[in-house]
Amino acid sequence: MTAEKSKLVYLDHGATSFPKAPGVAKAVGHFLDEIAGNPGRGGHRLTISASRAIEESREAVATLLGSDPERTLLGPGATFWLNTILESTLKPGDRVVLSALEHNAVMRPLRLLESRLRLNLHIVEGQPDTGVPTVREIADAVRSAPTAMVVLTQASNVSGAVLPVEEIARTVAPVSVVVDGAQGAGSLAFDFQGSGISAYACSGHKGLLGPPGTGVLLLAPGFSVQPLIRGGTGSNSESEEMPSFLPDSLEAGTPNGAGIAGLGAACKWLEERGVEAIHLLQNELVQRLADNLRTIKGVDLHGFRDDAHKTGILSFTVRDRDVGELATLLDRECNIALRAGLHCSPAAHRRLGTFPAGTLRAGLGPFNTAHDVDVLVNAIREICRMTE
Ligand SMILES: Cc1ncc(COP(=O)(O)O)c(C=O)c1O
Repeated sequence: MTAEKSKLVYLDHGATSFPKAPGVAKAVGHFLDEIAGNPGRGGHRLTISASRAIEESREAVATLLGSDPERTLLGPGATFWLNTILESTLKPGDRVVLSALEHNAVMRPLRLLESRLRLNLHIVEGQPDTGVPTVREIADAVRSAPTAMVVLTQASNVSGAVLPVEEIARTVAPVSVVVDGAQGAGSLAFDFQGSGISAYACSGHKGLLGPPGTGVLLLAPGFSVQPLIRGGTGSNSESEEMPSFLPDSLEAGTPNGAGIAGLGAACKWLEERGVEAIHLLQNELVQRLADNLRTIKGVDLHGFRDDAHKTGILSFTVRDRDVGELATLLDRECNIALRAGLHCSPAAHRRLGTFPAGTLRAGLGPFNTAHDVDVLVNAIREICRMTE
C-alpha cells in the first residue's frame, strides 16, 4: 500500500468524535484537579464550585441547542435518555410510529416494551433508495390509527441521511414526537424550542465534541418523563421519594462532573465556531468522498443521495470484499480509522439491503480536511486495483 502512513486519519465521527473540541481536556482536568466536589451535596466551597460548573455547562448546552436550561437534563448518553423516555411514557397497547432507520438505542427498548406492554410498532419504510420517510408518510401513518408517539432518528448513523423531524413534529401535533438526536446534535443547526419536538435525546461525545459518558435530554413544556433510576440528588434529602422538580427528578446519583464540564467547554466552542459552518464543511467533504468513490469500479454507496439533506456520514462497500477485513487493512496499512459492520443499526441495514454483512462507514467531523478524504479514496482505489 502506498497510502500515507504518517498521520492518523480519523474518520469515525459517527461512533465518537476525535479530537475533542479545543478546551475540553482542559475543562475536564480543571474539574478533576481544582473542583472535584460533589454538586449539591453539602455546602463547602468545592461542592459549590462543582454545582456552578455543572450549571454553567447546562447553560452552554441549552444555548447551543435552543432549549430551556430548566428542561435540559445532563446524563450518561443518548441511550440512557432514550430508555428513560420510552420506558416511562409508553402504556400497554400504545401504537408507536417509527422510521426504518432507527438505532438499537431505540429499537431494543421498543422491542422489549413491545413484548412487555404489547406495543403496536408501525415502521414506515420510507423512500425506496434511502429509507427516509417523508412528512406525508409519517402523517398518514399517524392518522391511520390512534398513535401515542412518533420516534425518529434526526439523521441515520448508517447513511447520514437527515430526516425532516421538525416538519413532522409540527404536522402530527398534538401527537408527541421523540427524536434521537445522536447523529444530529452539533452537525445540524437546531433550535429545540422552535422545533415542535416533545423530547430530544443526544450524545455529548459525538457531534457535540465532548467527553464520553455524557448525553443530553431536552424536554418540551408539558412533556413529562419519569426517572429510569432513583437515588440521591442532594435535594429533599428528608424524603425517600424522588424530588418532583427538574433537573433533580431525572438526575439521581453523583453526576459525571468532569465530563459535563468538558461538554460545556465543547458547546461554547461550537457556539463560537457555528454549527451551520460545520454542517457545510461536512457536507462538502462527504460529497467529495461520494464523488470520488463513485469513480472506483466495484465500490457501491448505500442510502446516499447527492440532493438529500445529509450529515458527514457515508456508507459504502467494495464488491467481493469483507468490510471487517477492509477496515482492519485500512487501519493497519493506511492509518485510517473507520468503522465496519452494522453500526448497532440492524434495522437500517435491513432497510438499505446491507444486512447482515454491513458496510464501511466513513464519518467526517469538523477537523477533517479534503486531504483526509483523498487519503481514504486513494487507499480504496489501490485496494480495488490490487483485487482486480
Ligand atoms: C443514532 C444513534 N442513536 C443513539 C446512539 C447512542 O448514543 P450514546 O453513545 O450517547 O448512548 C448512537 C451512537 O452510536 C447513534 O448513532
